[in-house]
Parts: sequence; C-alpha cells; structure tokens
Amino acid sequence: MKVLFIGDIVGDLGIDAVEKYLPRLKKKYQIDVVIANGENAAKGRGITKRIYQDLLMMGVDVITMGNHTWDQREIYDFIDDTDYLIRPANFSKEAPGKGMTTITKNGQAISVINLHGRVFLPAHDEPFAMAEELIAEAKKQSPIVFVDFHAETTSEKIALGWHLAGQASVVVGTHTHVQTADERILPGGTAYISDVGMTGPYDEVLGMKKESVIYRFKTNMPVRFEVPERGAEVLSAFFVEIDDKNGQATHCERILINKDHPFKG
Ligand SMILES: [Fe+2]
Ligand SMILES: [Fe+2]
Repeated sequence: MKVLFIGDIVGDLGIDAVEKYLPRLKKKYQIDVVIANGENAAKGRGITKRIYQDLLMMGVDVITMGNHTWDQREIYDFIDDTDYLIRPANFSKEAPGKGMTTITKNGQAISVINLHGRVFLPAHDEPFAMAEELIAEAKKQSPIVFVDFHAETTSEKIALGWHLAGQASVVVGTHTHVQTADERILPGGTAYISDVGMTGPYDEVLGMKKESVIYRFKTNMPVRFEVPERGAEVLSAFFVEIDDKNGQATHCERILINKDHPFKG
C-alpha cells in the first residue's frame, strides 16, 4: 500500500495547494490512500463541513486534527457521523468524535490513529500507552497502522516513534508547521518523521501573516493572527510504501513543494 500524508493544511492557500498538487502527486507516486491534517483548514482555525467535503472531493481519504479541533463549532454537527475525520484519541472520553478509524482502499485496510502531545500543550490523557492499546485493537482488522502525533516538541515525537517502532507502520509528527529532515525507517519497519510541515502560505510565519507575528514578538501586545488569502504557497507531505502482508514500511520520502523547491513530475 502506498500512503501519502499531507501536513497541516492552513487556510485557502493550503486547500488550493492540495487541489493543485494532489492529482500530480497521486500520479507520480501511484498513491492508494491520502491522509491529511486539517486542523487549520478554516482560515487557520479548525475545519468546516464545507471544507471537509471539499477535501474529500479532492481525493483526501482521512482527515486528522489537533489542538484546533474545536475552533469551528459546526464540527460538532458532523464529527459523530463520519469515519473520515478523526480527532486526537487522548481527548476526554466525553468529547465528540473518535480518535481512530479504519478504511479500505484498493482491497487493503488501513487504520489511522490521531494522538495529541502533552508538552507545551493542554494536558490530555497519556498518549503512549493509549497508542499501544489502539494499535493492538487496529491490528485485529489490518496490519497497516498509521499514527499522526500532533505535538510540539521533537523529543516527545521521537520518543513515541521509538515506543511504537515495530508496532505502527508509520508515525508522523504534525503541529509545528516546519518540516524536519529526519525521516527514516525505524527497526521493525516503522516509517518516521518528527514533523511533516505545513501546507499553506509560504512567505509568512507558520502560515500566519508575518507583520502581526513580528508585532507581537516586538511588543507583547495582543494582536489577532490572520491567515493571508493570497501569496506563495507550500505543500509539505510524507510518502510511505508499506508491505501489505506484514504492515512494515519499506520506503519513505519527505515531500516539500514551494517556489524554492518546485514540483518535479
Ligand atoms: Fe497546525
Ligand atoms: Fe496544532
């Protein structure tokens, strides 16, 4: 199975980048399954039903979320009715939605798990033991298990990568919006990258208009961060090839497309 994961989609420029490049990436890598983090898709804050539907139409199979999951209140209206959008599994048991889903593409099942880090972020339930429990449950259905760990620090993400080495097929980090260059296959066939990076405005600060971020850092004054609707875009992604029989990753590749690194077909 060939899996493409798209890092945090930020605003309209991020959605445009998916529309523009996903068909080309699908063709180039012969992708079976597309997973994307959509926590910033609605102008930086959460996701709407319309955007969720648009992303599925564009070819995304499963959307994962993060600390911005509840920013758009309309998510409450549809999160319990879908198998194609999940939120971190270690949120409160009383929270709507679910943290794991299993889908079948081209005759092969894949489970996707979303987890939330606890360093410099709200203290959700402990994700390490929960990951093991969920993977054990997922493996009853399929050997292929994909984990999106939405977390701030590289240390927490690398630790989860090692913790799940040989258990998950893929562990990717999201949330920092900056792609790391540490992609590798851990022992036991777990493809890993600390952060896939973001998909959205390129000439800004993590997708937010740079002027207001600079102003905040200079003055410590309150200022609302906004996502620009025009400008250069970046698409950050991670490609993994997985052995269908044992669920082990055999190849992984970091993908970065922007004006400095144009798409090569
Ligand atoms: Fe994000
Ligand atoms: Fe985040």
